[in-house]
Amino acid sequence: MEQKHQRGQWGSNLGFLMATVGAAVGLGNIWGFPYKMGTYGGFPFLIVYLALGVLVGFPIMLTELSIGRKVGHSVLVSYRTVGGPMGTLLGFLAMLSPFLILSFYSVLGAYCVEYMFLNGMELLGAGGLSRASGAETFAQILANQPMAIFFTLLFIALGFFIIRGGIKDGIEKFNKIGMPALAIALLIVIIRAVTLPGASEGLKFMFTPNWEPFTTLDGFLEVLSAAGGQMFFSLSLAMGITVTYGSYLSKKESLVKNSLIVILSDTTVAVMAGLAILPSAFALGGEGAELAGPKLLFITMQDVFNSMGAIGPAFGVLFFLFVTLAAITSAIALTEVLVTFILDHQTARGKTPNRGLVVGLVSLAVLAEAVLVAADGLGSNGLWIPFQETGRTLGASWLDFMDFISEGVAMPLGALLMSFMIWAIRPTLVRDEVRQCGQPFSNRLYRYYQFCIYVTCPIGMAFILYGQLRTFFAIS
Ligand code: PFF
Repeated sequence: MEQKHQRGQWGSNLGFLMATVGAAVGLGNIWGFPYKMGTYGGFPFLIVYLALGVLVGFPIMLTELSIGRKVGHSVLVSYRTVGGPMGTLLGFLAMLSPFLILSFYSVLGAYCVEYMFLNGMELLGAGGLSRASGAETFAQILANQPMAIFFTLLFIALGFFIIRGGIKDGIEKFNKIGMPALAIALLIVIIRAVTLPGASEGLKFMFTPNWEPFTTLDGFLEVLSAAGGQMFFSLSLAMGITVTYGSYLSKKESLVKNSLIVILSDTTVAVMAGLAILPSAFALGGEGAELAGPKLLFITMQDVFNSMGAIGPAFGVLFFLFVTLAAITSAIALTEVLVTFILDHQTARGKTPNRGLVVGLVSLAVLAEAVLVAADGLGSNGLWIPFQETGRTLGASWLDFMDFISEGVAMPLGALLMSFMIWAIRPTLVRDEVRQCGQPFSNRLYRYYQFCIYVTCPIGMAFILYGQLRTFFAIS
């Protein structure tokens, strides 16, 4: 009890939900989901994504929340306590991923702040965009290293001030304002996007059944691994977040209900981001705009705002404000995994940790690696990059390299190990934690959970791991 009191707790279940949904809803939803949906044929990607959410996302999220709340400690100690040496390895993987992801997440977040700033200048008549095309604007942003580093510093500093406030008075408070603001900004952009002339093509692309990619095994596997990797990243699974946030949750709350709400909200925002971006791309982005890949957010969308006339910059500010909010609430969660680890470690050694100092040190470490990614400008500024000479995707930029180790290897490998760990410690551990304080977990749902943990999760995760490695080793 004493330990809990020192660590703090969420002020309410709503606060926990806002923060966990805030962690889940991020660049993965807004940047990743629409462009991957564009690349993998629209509807087929959506169907596989939804199926994986039910068969893999839900059981893994429930497991992570249960372990986090049961042990009530950082991710490393939580996994070590329940899983022994395998748990320790898993705990390290689950801390390595957030740290490396932060290197590029902070830079992508910084680009969003920069776009918001440029559109704002344009709106005020100060010529932030000087009528440049989306591609020209983005090329300038990538090439201007001092500006990219400045905005990265700003983005990390914003996160620092929020996280320093603590679980309840910092993270929870910010998410309670930030998440509703995000939803409103997104709704306004969607209304504009779907009422553009020509937007219906985008809607058809998203929702008209199309089974073509499933006609070959290769096509199916490609969609499966892309959708699976996306789902893990989007739900923030296998990265310590859900364990960490769960460790601050009261025993009275329902883990099943909370998992479902987080998954549903995250998926809804991803589809809504698709609704904001794909119809706009079809209406204003020109032939094949939906295939722009990662550039869809930073180039195509800016072209869309440019072509809206005088009102364009206002939508640009609103849209990038929304993306920045989504990015920062996720970056906060990634940082908190490391902060909680250090705080708990110091407490266990009998010290009284200084939260502000720990957050400051973690932020500085993140800044050091993020400066590298910012200076690299997605590989366009001639910096040396590991594996560059191989011509493979993992050597295309510092972002790709960091992404390879975190999203490509540590995350799916951690998720696979997690299944085996649950086999070893038995799913009853999760069942008993879910049933705390008389919360319902019917036998039927528990049987479904067991089926997923023994069958669908390991198979799904093996394919995801395979697919991720294939992507990163492909010649770029
Ligand atoms: N889920 C976030 C997104 O979709 O952008 C990314 C993320 C946040 C991943 C937090 C992992 C994490 F721990």
